[in-house]
Amino acid sequence: MRIGILTGGGDCPGLNAAIRAVTRRSIDTHESTVVGVHNGWAGLLHGDTEPLSLYSISGILHRGGTILGTSRTNPLKHPDGIQRIMENIRKFELDAVVAIGGEDTLGAAAALNNQGIPMVGIPKTIDNDIVGTESTFGFDTAITIATDAIDRLHTTAESHHRVMVIEVMGRHTGWIAIMSGIAGGADCVLIPEIPFEIDEVCQLVEQRKRRGKTFSLVVVAEGVKLKGSVDYVIQDTKVDEFGHVRLGGIGHVIGAEIEKQTGIETRVTILGHIQRGGSPTAYDRVLATRFGVAAADLVHAGEFGRMVALRAAKIESIPLSDIVGKIRPVDMELYEIAKVFFG
Ligand code: F6P
Repeated sequence: MRIGILTGGGDCPGLNAAIRAVTRRSIDTHESTVVGVHNGWAGLLHGDTEPLSLYSISGILHRGGTILGTSRTNPLKHPDGIQRIMENIRKFELDAVVAIGGEDTLGAAAALNNQGIPMVGIPKTIDNDIVGTESTFGFDTAITIATDAIDRLHTTAESHHRVMVIEVMGRHTGWIAIMSGIAGGADCVLIPEIPFEIDEVCQLVEQRKRRGKTFSLVVVAEGVKLKGSVDYVIQDTKVDEFGHVRLGGIGHVIGAEIEKQTGIETRVTILGHIQRGGSPTAYDRVLATRFGVAAADLVHAGEFGRMVALRAAKIESIPLSDIVGKIRPVDMELYEIAKVFFG
């Protein structure tokens, strides 16, 4: 077979491990040929590809980012997108495409599969918000980085008797915030799943002060909204091809209000893309590798229109159509655990 492989949406640690696994399994076990598609769906629209050999995927397991490049191009937003993709699939003689991405990339893969283009999906995102899988790769690295940042902010907060607001990524869900908040001992965690009142946050900070704690750590996901508000805090009103605005800055709004209401000096750190860069953790390398091998096997078994998934610690697969338009919210049991340590 000739298999195309692409990475779409925001990058994350572990993408190269997945590319390597799909390629190694396809070439070595299934005697197939693998074609790397550059920059997500853009590469299939423009016919921008490279052959992937065992040589080209050697030495990439531990490297962050993606050797194929990525983009937020949505093929369904281009009037002749599907037709151009079909033409390029024919031109490069691809029998199937493995799409590695988040809800947007995999949603497009599901739609293209319905149009008769054989697709297999691999879920990735630092946000960990894809339904049907217990985890996505990239997430473990992101929470490791965020926890390290919280630890570092902890010592300086304590020395200066300050409130530290730490804004982490998480557009629709607060997985990074809740996990790094629990791991880093946050005194308050704000997640998009639970709209919040700023007064409640200030009360927690004041409660800590009454208990003799002169510093507080407030972890906030970029996608949180004030109770009653429908608006995100955004950096830019421009939207990408999937309709997403650029989030970021809610931490400053919260920090200013905490300082105003409590009189405690407050500093804000926005972790931003640091959470997405660099080497994947061992967990993410292993998960990406397991997903990659399973995806190559699905392709060669002719099981198209499916996404590999982690379920009860085993790699299984589910229909791609099952994930379209859905997100996986934070497990409220985890939120309740985080809450035990608030204030
Ligand atoms: O990949 C998802 C995500 O990490 C979101 O949490 C964040 O809002 C977004 O990517 C930012 O991506 P970029 O700035 O690269 O478009």
